[in-house]
Amino acid sequence: MAGKISAERDGGYIRVAVPDIYRGMTASEALRLMGLDIDLPCGGNGRCGKCSGYIETVTDGVKKVMPVKLCRSAVPNEGAVTVGFPETLLLGGTNVDVSGENCDACGESESSDGFLAVDIGTTTVEAVLKCCGRTLGHFAGLNPQKKYGADVISRIAFSKTPGGLERMTGDIRLCINNMLEAGRKKHPGLKIGNVYIAGNTTMQHLFMGVSPESMGHYPFTPAFTEARQLKGAEIGVNAENVTVLPSADAFIGADVVAGAELYLEDPDLPPTLFIDLGTNGEMVLKSGGRYYATSSAAGPCFEGANISCGTGGIEGAISDVKDSERGLVIGTIGDKAPVGICGSGLLSLVAVLLERGVIDETGLMEEDLEICGFLKTPGGEKPVQTGISLTRKDVREFQLAKAAIRTGVEILLEKAGLEAKDIETVYTAGGLGTHIDPSAAIRTGLLPPEFKGKCKAPGNTSLYGATAAGDDPTFLEKASALALKFETFSLNDAKNFSEKFIDNMYFD
Ligand code: FES
Repeated sequence: MAGKISAERDGGYIRVAVPDIYRGMTASEALRLMGLDIDLPCGGNGRCGKCSGYIETVTDGVKKVMPVKLCRSAVPNEGAVTVGFPETLLLGGTNVDVSGENCDACGESESSDGFLAVDIGTTTVEAVLKCCGRTLGHFAGLNPQKKYGADVISRIAFSKTPGGLERMTGDIRLCINNMLEAGRKKHPGLKIGNVYIAGNTTMQHLFMGVSPESMGHYPFTPAFTEARQLKGAEIGVNAENVTVLPSADAFIGADVVAGAELYLEDPDLPPTLFIDLGTNGEMVLKSGGRYYATSSAAGPCFEGANISCGTGGIEGAISDVKDSERGLVIGTIGDKAPVGICGSGLLSLVAVLLERGVIDETGLMEEDLEICGFLKTPGGEKPVQTGISLTRKDVREFQLAKAAIRTGVEILLEKAGLEAKDIETVYTAGGLGTHIDPSAAIRTGLLPPEFKGKCKAPGNTSLYGATAAGDDPTFLEKASALALKFETFSLNDAKNFSEKFIDNMYFD
């Protein structure tokens, strides 16, 4: 962070006093120069409206507050200026929930065995602080690398620019050090000696400072997949030891291997599918003791990118839409006022609109639609006009993403010589998978109808895997052995991919 800045939290917002030297710059640029990077989903060109905040000026004792797009609004030339923005926009910010309870098993000392388990997602970074089996804190924030691109392809592209790799590596390590610092502040006596990292293969490369360039083109070969164990001092992480969990290939990362180790390890398991639904749809099918794995490029639509009013899974994101006789019933994360629509909200909204016939089987919608109805609040349902729209282009984006996932599932099943009805259980993990409404997934064709009643959403399995590595000394070895058993293949090599993909664009 540049110099000392004066910032405070205020009702979900961060307020920052802006020094005179930043007058005339855009608010987002001033914040950046002060060391506060905020998320600019459309690159700061004023199109998406997702960088809403406010500029407050006090001139001769008169206060004025102006709602603004931070990427387009200049810091005024007069008055004492404060810029306010939602905490959820802060890249690398850690919405810290440190319980404050001490570990009563070891009493927290220099001989404690505290550790930080981290899931580095393309969009979000989530971590837990653990000791003696207890969770002492939880951290979540946007991945600070998001400013360089929404998906792994754009991060790989940025890594090839001068200094690009070093910047992304520095940003993610700083983010983790900030989490460690916050944990130590709350638990000053606790020794946090270990950090365990799980993420997709590109995120693991960027964390390690290893170029992911070779994964950006055929034959998509990662520089490493094996687990890495090293001293924190070697890589500028403020913990004694750092462990990076093993991946299987460029598209089947440690996040998926960890989930598979946790949920597919039973040798007598009937055919079971594990799908990580986030920016990509990574999937593993275990059948007859074999692990078939592939990845479909769904694009960042389910993370809110490329959707006109899309947003990640942040507070206020519309996450659930149901139909009722009175109209749409709209649920948001944290029961907050709607700020956008996230993947699960998009999925449930499209399912409702298909049922109503507003969207036809080809994906045609007569006109863009504002989402209005009744907002679920802690005090009951209240009429709402959200000002958040679903456009015809959004529906097309959704069709592309759902067709990619469904096609991946079908080809994976073919590879294993199975049909959808043969699958006993479907675990859905990842940003969308955790909050997915299986009936909406089936209604929209994201998943086949034969999966009805078989879906389970265990949560952030990548984080659980990183945690298991800290809790169980044998986990790393088991996950490493499992990663070698994966039979991975590229959907591009499947002869019937295009045909299936086009079929799956339709809504049945
Ligand atoms: S980032 Fe400001 S409008 Fe898109």
